[in-house]
Amino acid sequence: MPATPRANDGRWRRCWRPTGWCSRGTTSSSPANTWTPTGASPTTTRCATASSTSTRRSASCSCALARASSAAFRRTRSTTGGRPSPNCMPCSSVLIDRPGAPMAPELVQLRLVTLYLTERCNSRCVSCDYWRHGRQDMALATVQQLLPGLKALGVEQVLLSGGEPLLHPHWVEMATLLRAQGLKLWLLTAGLALAKQLDDVARHVEQVTVSLDGATAASYARIRGLDAFEVVCAGVRAAVRAGLPVTLRVTVQRGNVAELPALVRLAHGLGVNGISFLAADVAHDEAFGRQAPAPDGVALRPEDLPLLAASLDAIEQTHADDLAGGFIAESPAKLRRIEAHARARLGLGPLTAPRCNAPAHSAVIEADGRLRPCFFIGGTQRLGAGGLEAALNAPAERRLRAAIAAGAQAACERCVCAKWFAPA
Ligand SMILES: C[S@@+](CC[C@H](N)C(=O)[O-])C[C@H]1O[C@@H](n2cnc3c(N)ncnc32)[C@H](O)[C@@H]1O
Ligand code: SF4
Ligand code: SF4
Repeated sequence: MPATPRANDGRWRRCWRPTGWCSRGTTSSSPANTWTPTGASPTTTRCATASSTSTRRSASCSCALARASSAAFRRTRSTTGGRPSPNCMPCSSVLIDRPGAPMAPELVQLRLVTLYLTERCNSRCVSCDYWRHGRQDMALATVQQLLPGLKALGVEQVLLSGGEPLLHPHWVEMATLLRAQGLKLWLLTAGLALAKQLDDVARHVEQVTVSLDGATAASYARIRGLDAFEVVCAGVRAAVRAGLPVTLRVTVQRGNVAELPALVRLAHGLGVNGISFLAADVAHDEAFGRQAPAPDGVALRPEDLPLLAASLDAIEQTHADDLAGGFIAESPAKLRRIEAHARARLGLGPLTAPRCNAPAHSAVIEADGRLRPCFFIGGTQRLGAGGLEAALNAPAERRLRAAIAAGAQAACERCVCAKWFAPA
């Protein structure tokens, strides 16, 4: 579990570097929210995502806002008076890349690899921006380039995500290549095309998770931006009838906070194998295709907290069997973390970094071949001729993993989706 920066082991201290260039709008006197090993000479420390030690933001910075146009950048700064906006978090992309900084051990084995097959999407979710900005599809060549590394690293499962993976025109060819390596495929989908593509899905995929954020047509439409509740439910029923293991995923947010017990009932009605709940992230500029802070209607407000508490109480009282038997994937304590996370975000409770070892056992590969240690933290490498192992074990990537493990990434404190891989 990463220690929080406050509880770090003394090898790290806050970066000295002024962040006047920081695209998140931090002031020039604020320290970057990264940490350098103590004793390091400030002048030799630099941000690996910047092209130089200049105090100007770098075009190569992996922060989503920095990648946005200069006009968007200036707009963000001007609307916040140069200070962080209410949604603004200290930059999570910045990492220290200096010779001698601690490196995590080389990765020689991975359990799970997530592929963002495409950035494109045909939904219009309030919580996610892929549908606004996503353009790129993963190239078939990228999957071919990945195959030797997936095999050498003993990867067991590949999660197909995005964007909307079923929109990729060649996803079946990609799935065929991956399955020929003995990999098990897990599809995470909005479900709009599930019924239509069911034969291909059933042939290539071992497990399907459908994102279903509303228990009614009205709340689904408010949250996912489409009048498609019945289409998605029909797709889920068809997949269940075809014998596929199907689960539902609910992203808990303003628009569904009072519906959580109804969503459990809906899951039973649809005949799926289970349901899981995840708090909506609004804190990371590295996630969900963002090029700007998450919009207002997603994060819980103080008046939503009693609704969430009532939903969780009702689940504990009326779905105790589902909790005990695993139909609801989270334990009661983990569900209560959603509440604690919301309270912390509103300044009503402490932020605590969750238990997570995702970067040591899994990796995420974006549609353009860039690597991420997890959904929320931008990586330093792009898949190249050396394949997956070389990219994962590049020194900058190992330094990033060491910084994460040392609790040096603010992203972890705010994480809604930590993952703990128990020993195999
Ligand atoms: C980005 S989507 C990609 C796969 C597919 N398009 C789908 O919706 O399932 C992956 C998951 O992230 C969830 N998601 C979207 N916005 C989120 C947010 N702000 N915080 C946490 N999860 C979010 C989606 O509901 C979905 O379960
Ligand atoms: S959550 Fe999935 S379906 Fe919704 S916009 Fe993002 S990628 Fe598309
Ligand atoms: S998944 Fe969350 S807790 Fe885990 S490394 Fe990423 S940001 Fe940190």
